[in-house]
Amino acid sequence: MNNSESKITNNSQSISDNVLEFKEVWKIYQMGDEKINALAGVNLSIKKGSFTSIMGPSGSGKSTLLHVAGILDMPTKGTFLMNGKNTSLLSGKEQARLRRNEIGFVFQRFNLFPQLSALENVLLPMIEPDPEKAKGYLNKIGLRGKHAKLPSQLSGGEQQRVSIARALVNNPSIILADEPTGELDSKNAEIIMGILQELNNKEGVTIIIVTHNPLAAEFTDKIIEMRDGNIL
Ligand SMILES: Nc1ncnc2c1ncn2[C@@H]1O[C@H](COP(=O)(O)OP(=O)(O)O)[C@@H](O)[C@H]1O
Ligand SMILES: [Mg+2]
Repeated sequence: MNNSESKITNNSQSISDNVLEFKEVWKIYQMGDEKINALAGVNLSIKKGSFTSIMGPSGSGKSTLLHVAGILDMPTKGTFLMNGKNTSLLSGKEQARLRRNEIGFVFQRFNLFPQLSALENVLLPMIEPDPEKAKGYLNKIGLRGKHAKLPSQLSGGEQQRVSIARALVNNPSIILADEPTGELDSKNAEIIMGILQELNNKEGVTIIIVTHNPLAAEFTDKIIEMRDGNIL
């Protein structure tokens, strides 16, 4: 999408333009006799083209919230809407289509395929496999010369950057990134946050990151704090 197009879209949809909407969303895990409320009645609206960070202590439900937003997990109770559609009512095929076409997800633990090279990991989810484009992303995030390395041959920070490149290659309209700078030194963290900021500013991509890093949160427009499965 070029700049003028994104502006027109933004203007014409500026009223109540929620890409993601959580309505009284619960995620309850049963562990033996114990129930864990990973999400406890979350109400949250995310506007198109916004850049949000989620902060909060370990176990407060940040990853679970992001997994529901990415249609990787379904609410136990309540409603989660993407572009106005209740994702629980979509077919598995339609959910997969949204995940593939609209969402770029950066996993907290990267989820790279250990037998595949960095380049192959980035190429794998591409709707239209394009090695040059995949290489371009790897170079942009500082992995020039490491395309053929297996994840085990890369540092944690390098693996994290491969997982970020993989999330970007299909030009998603929504990026959900779980602690995307968690393994990065401050220089690389700034590069990654700069790339996300540019996608947000220039292409209107809606972005949510989970982070513990106040410097990363500074790049975002809004900070949401979570405690005990809910938003403060
Ligand atoms: N698959 C699961 N099974 C059981 N409990 C889970 C599962 N995923 C998360 N939890 C629990 O839900 C709570 C929230 O977890 P999580 O969303 O990962 O928190 P955060 O990302 O903020 O650290 C924690 O108590 C965690 O142990
Ligand atoms: Mg987490």
